[in-house]
Amino acid sequence: MATQTLSERADAYEEQQIRELGERLIAKSLLYNLADGVRKHGHDGPSGGPGSAALLMGEDPRLPPMPDRPTLFDFFRYRFSPARAHVLQSANLAQKNGLPEKMVLACLLHDISVLGFIRSDHGYWGAQLVEPYVDEEVAWAIRMHQALRFFPDESVGYEYPDAYVRMFGEDYRPEPYIVAAYEAARKHKWYMSSRMIVVNDLYSFDPDVVVELEQFEDIVGRHFKQPPEGLGNDNSPSSHMWRTLRRPCNAL
Ligand SMILES: [Fe+2]
Ligand SMILES: [Fe+2]
Repeated sequence: MATQTLSERADAYEEQQIRELGERLIAKSLLYNLADGVRKHGHDGPSGGPGSAALLMGEDPRLPPMPDRPTLFDFFRYRFSPARAHVLQSANLAQKNGLPEKMVLACLLHDISVLGFIRSDHGYWGAQLVEPYVDEEVAWAIRMHQALRFFPDESVGYEYPDAYVRMFGEDYRPEPYIVAAYEAARKHKWYMSSRMIVVNDLYSFDPDVVVELEQFEDIVGRHFKQPPEGLGNDNSPSSHMWRTLRRPCNAL
């Protein structure tokens, strides 16, 4: 028998997934396969023909179940990766540094795209996720922190991060759109709000410092307009993003 092609192996893997999912086929988005260097979306396997498995629509049995009306904290608990400790520690630092509540919230949310959604252009995705629920200044600060991270500001003692030299190499230079975003932000009335996210952004995690989500319950209660019907059920401009995070493998 001829050696299986990559695509045949992928199909075999899908068939195995079906068995594990009680005869439901997982439709994997192109984006998830692109992340593995594969240009193919995932439901062109054995589905479609007579007797083939149905595609998964609805709750994903592989992921922790979520309440019917999920809150921001439910997404922290049941979807975000363990890396959420990073934003908890950043918000904790902001609180210790006496920042206004609104800015503590901005620090708590600044990287939710990295730890809960999509890494690439995380400032923009993160801002979009929370925009309907927070003060305009908070969303703006989150969007811009991605660019500001690359540029020093002596007035607040912020230098180009050593971690970026390690992560991206010594000769890495930000792309033109990041330079342009930085230059525009520099002249903006909320520049310092975004800069405060950057200043309180921690790289290194102290495993001995455990910051609990509950520490920010009151701040979130006062400054995050939690929709009573649940994030994703509220028909806001970013509801679809929360729904996608809840059910990332819905076929359509
Ligand atoms: Fe960030
Ligand atoms: Fe961060």
